[in-house]
Amino acid sequence: MLVCDCNDVEFDAIKEAVKKHGDNLEAIMDETEAGTVCECCLEEDCDKVDLPLPLAIKKALEELG
Ligand code: FES
Repeated sequence: MLVCDCNDVEFDAIKEAVKKHGDNLEAIMDETEAGTVCECCLEEDCDKVDLPLPLAIKKALEELG
């Protein structure tokens, strides 16, 4: 599932970052580079990706319990 088109970041990479950083957006962006180019995927309604970053973080937190 694509989270960031510009940097080709998939949900699995976000989940790994959430494991380490929780919901710390800046740390997740630093580690994965998601959201660091056009910033579309920082918006929940971005249509360039399957799962924009805020929603991906939410889903990862849910899955990690
Ligand atoms: S789609 Fe993520 S920065 Fe462009």
